Amino acid sequence: MRRGASGLASDAARDQSSSQRRRPAMSLVEDAARVRENAYAPYSRFKVGAAIRAGSGQVYLGVNVENAAYPEGTCAEAGAIAAMIAGGDTRIDEIAVIADAPRPVPPCGGCRQKLAEFAGGGVKVTLATTRGQAMETTVADLLPGAFAETDMA
Ligand code: THU
Repeated sequence: MRRGASGLASDAARDQSSSQRRRPAMSLVEDAARVRENAYAPYSRFKVGAAIRAGSGQVYLGVNVENAAYPEGTCAEAGAIAAMIAGGDTRIDEIAVIADAPRPVPPCGGCRQKLAEFAGGGVKVTLATTRGQAMETTVADLLPGAFAETDMA
């Protein structure tokens, strides 16, 4: 089990006796909710947390990180993907995203494309709110007809 890299779900890592253990979606939502507290969102005041369970079984976390130069901000999903790649994983097996929103927060268009780079169309995406709502969708449902490497053949 890898430890010490940024973006790891430390609680999740402790719970795992095997890096291959599959964890229920609810705990991925809980991981996303926990890390969401660390989001840096002083401009929008809209904190988002994301948790990815990668091919190795490891869970990677991300939050949105805003910037006074607004376009330089990054989304929680992008942060979790960056942590995953830095951790040596390249395949998303499942992802959860959470925010304090009136409906389960829909990932932005750019993040849908970023997810499609590392996740098959059938990969489960759980969108949740801190108010207790959750919905499950898939990468293909979020971005039908995604542009992919195969389109450049
Ligand atoms: N945001 C995310 O991090 N993920 C999403 O799926 C939607 C939007 C962030 C970007 C920005 O920091 C804030 O939410 C408001 O748009």
